[in-house]
Amino acid sequence: MLNGDIFLPGDKSISHRIVLFSVLGKGDIEIDNFSPGEDCGSSVKAIEALGADVRREDGKLFISGLSKKIRASDEPVVIDCGNSGTTIRLLMGILCGLNGMFELTGDKYLCRRPMERIAEPLRLFGADIVTQENGVAPIFINGSKLKAADYTLPIASAQLKSAFLLAGLSAEGVSTLEEPVLCRDHTEKMLESFGAKFSKVGTRMTVEASELELPSKFYVPGDPSSAAFFLIAAAVVSGSCVTAKNVLLNPTRIGFVDVLKKMNADVTIVETGDVPEPMGDITVKYSPNLTSVEVFPENIPGMVDEIPILSLIAALAKGTSVFHGVQELRVKETDRLEAIKSELGKMGAKIKLTQDEFGDSLVITGIDSLNMPAELDSFGDHRMAMTLRLALLLVDEECDIDEEECVKISFPQFHEILEQLIIREN
Ligand code: S3P
Repeated sequence: MLNGDIFLPGDKSISHRIVLFSVLGKGDIEIDNFSPGEDCGSSVKAIEALGADVRREDGKLFISGLSKKIRASDEPVVIDCGNSGTTIRLLMGILCGLNGMFELTGDKYLCRRPMERIAEPLRLFGADIVTQENGVAPIFINGSKLKAADYTLPIASAQLKSAFLLAGLSAEGVSTLEEPVLCRDHTEKMLESFGAKFSKVGTRMTVEASELELPSKFYVPGDPSSAAFFLIAAAVVSGSCVTAKNVLLNPTRIGFVDVLKKMNADVTIVETGDVPEPMGDITVKYSPNLTSVEVFPENIPGMVDEIPILSLIAALAKGTSVFHGVQELRVKETDRLEAIKSELGKMGAKIKLTQDEFGDSLVITGIDSLNMPAELDSFGDHRMAMTLRLALLLVDEECDIDEEECVKISFPQFHEILEQLIIREN
């Protein structure tokens, strides 16, 4: 069983943003509980390449804001974004309106992911951005003066939304943006609290050229996407009770909690604070009568990174669960729909991918227990690797997971925390 209280490292999305936004802001910031994952490390390396001064001391990160004054040179500044989609996409929005030339690149997984979806709306501002022939990185940006633009997002993507809003901070005039459904809103919250000329009513936003006022101290709440692995596993492992302490409770991020409740899981939440965002403790206890769930597209953005681990619980719940409108999972670190189907399928899970009026659907029929697989592959995707490690815990067997070390991209302490939680019955 899994038992105990856990403290999660800082949220990945918020950690990326506080570091990257510092390029557009003035002042010195001290960041506490910054995400230790390699992804957020890529954002730190990026701002260092742009000339920022970053220090790590006593587990904290100290940054001096660049105020848009990046290191000028005749050669493009080359920024390696590693595996991080958030780093490369937010940087596209930040850099296209600044003075300088930039080349953004990344690892083999990142260089397969779609980037034209960001470049295209940025060109509405007059941005000079070139992607490769098939719309992927490396990306070349020649920073220029931008003029306000208006855009309606064709997909619910917080990365796309953020890139557009960040470009709007360097553009002359009032830019407007409409999102199809609410997706993670950390960018909006930070723009509001860092004094940007920004407003949001429902799903419609406006932004004007502004310099951000950085806070002197910033605490990053625990990452709910990392907590989700242990909390969801606790619902299925007999006798378990896990509490994730000081976790971000932003409603655009904890859709998995609503799914757990709908599935009959025993979940309690206690709020402990609300600065810079709501946070608190989430407890999940073993829940023997889990039932299936149907999730519709408007709720997918709130759990987009948790679908792999939710697939595991759905594979063991009574009845058939359906997640509608999950096509965005095809363009994550790997094609997560195919990965979920093939790898959990190797353990006997009954998973189908179908098409309906909402796009791709993930259809999972619960069974009593999973089997021991001969081999498993994470496809270099950190969220797949962690899901598969927990699936193996359920069958109580050892098996190698190909490229399992990729967990360090978001959650280097994953295995250590899992070991702390496991109570073995002799
Ligand atoms: C993120 C947004 C999501 C998510 C990713 C982080 C962010 O991507 O999958 O892990 O920090 O904005 P999309 O919004 O592009 O789907």
